[in-house]
Amino acid sequence: MADLAIIGGTGLTSLDGLEITKREMIDTPFGEPSGPLTRGVLNGKEVLFLARHGDGHTIPPHRINYRANIWALHHAGIKRVIAVAAVGGIHDALPPGALAIPDQIIDYTWGRAGTYFEDDLSEVTHIDFSYPYCDELRAMLIDQCNVVGLSACETGTYGATQGPRLETAAEIARMGRDGCTMVGMTGMPEALLARELDLNYACCAVSANWAAGKGNGAIISMAEIEENLKTGMDSVRKVLQQLLSNL
Ligand code: HPA
Repeated sequence: MADLAIIGGTGLTSLDGLEITKREMIDTPFGEPSGPLTRGVLNGKEVLFLARHGDGHTIPPHRINYRANIWALHHAGIKRVIAVAAVGGIHDALPPGALAIPDQIIDYTWGRAGTYFEDDLSEVTHIDFSYPYCDELRAMLIDQCNVVGLSACETGTYGATQGPRLETAAEIARMGRDGCTMVGMTGMPEALLARELDLNYACCAVSANWAAGKGNGAIISMAEIEENLKTGMDSVRKVLQQLLSNL
């Protein structure tokens, strides 16, 4: 049974080359996940895939049922999760197409169902979240980037925004002052929920565009994002395939 899951984000709604063995829709105490859990074999290794925004990429970031997604993975016996995420680059080292393996998060989202610890508690529960990502999985991702000749940023702070709109240039300037090196809309509460269920979780972020006001300050077009993600996700696929063959 697979113990590794890949959550695919914008630009990665399926895993090329995955020999699918089973697709199952799981009902959870929190409702339905974004789509079926797809089990299969890639590069000789079992893996489970879930498309975060749904198979047809129709669920916007603030409407994703993060609790159902992470609960379903846990229920399926998953112990490790690699979350692939499109981001806007805030730091100079994250031009479109670049990869990063963040080590920190700042959460700017609001109103999302973001914890399993709120109802029917025998006592109030606080979870340590000092270091939100699993260092072992991060190291694996960084190593495999090096093996396939891609130089990923080995650290970074993921600023999670509410979406679905992109940010203003002033918001990004403030996030940069806060220490964010990248911005995305789905990193939270996903990472926290994984921690609450004791899943090892790391993020492979792909810069889809310069964040608002960065680069040459031009406005951001969806066409540009899609184009950059094509190349960026090609890199991610290489890294994932390499990682799987080395498991
Ligand atoms: N902002 C937020 N999320 C994103 C961006 C962005 O610029 N690009 C890709 N996901």
